[in-house]
Formats: sequence, C-alpha cells, structure tokens
Amino acid sequence: MRKQRLVVVGSGSTYTMGMMMSLIAEKDRFPLKEVVFYDTDEQRQERNAKATEILFKERYSELESFSYTTDKKEAFENVDFVFVQIRTGGLAMREQDEQIALRHGVVGQETCGPGGMAYGLRSIKDMIELVNDVRRFSPNAWILNYTNPAAIVAEALNREFPKDDRLLNICDMPIAIMISYAKILGIDVWDIVPEYFGLNHFGWFTKIYDKEGNDLTERLKERIIDTGFSPEDEAIANDISWQKTFDQARQMLIDFPEFLPNTYLQYYLYPEAMVEKEDPNHTRARQVIEGRQKHVHDLCERIIDKGTAREEELHVDVHGVFMVKAAESLAYNLGERFIVLVENNGVIPNLPANAMVEVPALLTSSGPKPFSVGEIPTFYKGLIEGQLAYEQQVVDAYFETSYQKLVQALTLNRTVISATKAKEIVDDLIVANEKYWPRFKK
Ligand code: G6P
Ligand code: MN
Repeated sequence: MRKQRLVVVGSGSTYTMGMMMSLIAEKDRFPLKEVVFYDTDEQRQERNAKATEILFKERYSELESFSYTTDKKEAFENVDFVFVQIRTGGLAMREQDEQIALRHGVVGQETCGPGGMAYGLRSIKDMIELVNDVRRFSPNAWILNYTNPAAIVAEALNREFPKDDRLLNICDMPIAIMISYAKILGIDVWDIVPEYFGLNHFGWFTKIYDKEGNDLTERLKERIIDTGFSPEDEAIANDISWQKTFDQARQMLIDFPEFLPNTYLQYYLYPEAMVEKEDPNHTRARQVIEGRQKHVHDLCERIIDKGTAREEELHVDVHGVFMVKAAESLAYNLGERFIVLVENNGVIPNLPANAMVEVPALLTSSGPKPFSVGEIPTFYKGLIEGQLAYEQQVVDAYFETSYQKLVQALTLNRTVISATKAKEIVDDLIVANEKYWPRFKK
C-alpha cells in the first residue's frame, strides 16, 4: 500500500488530538509516511504539536516524519492529502456571532442564521487563499475540507474552483447521528447504509438499511419516538447542549414523521424555542472555550509535562475516524459510501443543478460518485430552496461586496425573515467583523 503524506491545516484546533488518535487507529488502512501541521496561530499549534509528537513516538512508530510549521511552502509541498479545519476569527468571533444575533432576538448559532452568515463571510477569503496556496505546491493533493459553515464554503469554492475535482467538502453531523441510530438498532455504525438528502446542516435521512439490505427505518423511528434520542459518540455524549439537541430531533420526528431530520433543522423549525433556551452570556462558544478547549489544552500540557501520553485516556472520535475513512476510500479507490457535499447536477432533479447538496456518494480515486435521490416532496423542496437562495445570496454578496445582497440574504433566512431586523443585524455584524470581512458597498 502506498504510504500517504498528510498536512493538517488548522492544527491548533480542539479536534486535532481526536484526529491524531483516528490516524493511529486507522494506520493499517491509511498508512502514513509523513504528517505535517500547519496553522497561522503558532502558539495554538505548538501545544497540539508537542503533545502529538509524544503520542506518535509511543503509538505510531511506522511514521517517518512529523513536523509543524507556519510556512506554506514547507507545509504544502509534495503532499497527498490536506485536511482543512480552520476557524477564521477563532472561538472569540463565534461568540460574537452568537451574541449579536441573540441581541436581536434571533437564533445565535455557529452555522445557522446570522452567525452562519458572519462566519461564512470570514471563511470564504481564507479558504480561497488556502486552496490557491495548496494548488501552487501540490496540484494533485486531495483537499478534504470540513471548515464551517460548510454549505457556504462549498458554494464559494465551487464557484471559485469549478474545475478542481480533488476538493471535497464534508461534515460529520450525519455520521454522528448515525452513531445514535446504530446504538438504538444494536448494529455497528459502519454497517448502516443510509439514504439522505439536503444541504449541509439542512437535510433528512429517508431510509436506514443494514448491510444485508434490511429496511430498518420504521423500527428506528418508533424506537426514537418511544424511548428517546441521545448523542452516543464519545465526543458529545456527555455534553448537555448536544443532549438537548438530540432530544429536540425526537420532537422534530414526532412533528414531521416522514423522514429522520438532521439535528440542525431545529434552528429553522423552532427558532423561538432556540432563542429562549439560550443564555446570551453563555452561548455555545463560551461552553466550548470552558469545556472542550480547556480539556484539550490541559490534556496536551499534561502530556508535554510528563513526556508521555500513556497515562491519558485518549479516545478516537467519530469526527476524526470519518475524515480518515473518507480519505482511505479516495486514496485506495475503495468506493465506500459516505454522505458528502457534491454539486447537484440532477441528483435531486427538482432542485437547481448548481446547488451544493449533501447526499450519499461512493468515494473513489476519481472523486465522489453520488447516488441519484430523485424528486423530493414539496415541503422539503420549499425549505431547501429558501435556504439555498440564502446561501447563494451570501456568496453573491461576498463576491460583489454588495451590502444590499447581505440584507437580502438575511431576509431570506428562516431564522430572521424581517427585513428591518436583517438590516439591523447586518449593520452590527459589519462593525464586529471589520477585521475579517471585505468592505461591503452600499
Ligand atoms: C458538529 C457539526 C459541525 C459543528 C460542530 C459544533 O460536529 O457537524 O459542523 O462545527 O458540531 O460542535 P460544538 O461542540 O463546537 O458546538
Ligand atoms: Mn458540520
């Protein structure tokens, strides 16, 4: 098996350690020659890198080289895979996004509503620059992007790099939900064969099969409605916020029993309740800063201090394993089935061909081969068309630096609707994002 050279972009992330554990867990199936960390934040990167160095010495002796850098050439030259997980503006700007929206009585969320728009407009510029940088040094590398908001990022990258067929946007939410399905059904998550359609963070499972082809959908729905729904992946199982979110997904299924919803639909279908449950002084960003981020920082510091990771309980999380397994399938032409973002092109014939849709696809060495979904019913089509128009309008606004289009975009968003509010929120976001956004022309 040919060994791969991997660069992790945004290596200072709180997800990096879990990702490294996943690389170790998958080392026979996705053997690596070299791992390079790249981040623009030297300090954040260094902590993860020094801990990883120790971890790899103990658990990945097959690896020939591990290094970290803030130099693009050093990072991107001669690589096979680029995993991208950047967050422009960091968690500090995530908190701003959430709080500004809430101040206007609107859903304050990382990827949904005004917060998602703000974050999207920050991410686009860095992502375009990054893809150009990678392509300068490694024209054929696979770029696996899970930078958020994935829907807006995917739309922007698809316009900027329409011919780049080694660029794949993926999200771990469907698989995280499938872990809970697997637990309920008593089967392994990798034995679930899902049918799914939508946009990123805006979709539905229509069927759940096992590997033998048995249709488990109705049994699963009944079980969720009767006995509840909760997060099961290690990384989120004990998190109160995720527990509430999964519980709300059960309510969605009760209200709309046709298909099994992605958890993110809660923000669009129950916006008032989502606003009500928030404490504006302690939004999700703050919870992550005090929770996952602190946990990962402390963990890395302990590993560095002790010079060993042997005393730590380290977990492989689904986020990391999913990314690595997707990479395996691309690298070795395995043709395994993953839910990913692709250009529609008739997969869902009653949606625009240029929409970036999230659907199951076989991942091969010549790219994703999506399955045909077929026409979708009016309710879902209507919801998706509104959301898609909003996403495309955000990207139009970015490329045209049009203030008017920003206001239109938020007016299209189900979490906002009111044009008065849309304008007020846009004005606040412009001030908060001065360092990151292009200058929008009135
Ligand atoms: C899921 C989504 C990601 C999102 C993350 C937020 O994994 O797929 O797109 O960034 O949840 O989780 P957090 O714990 O940071 O709120
Ligand atoms: Mn996601």
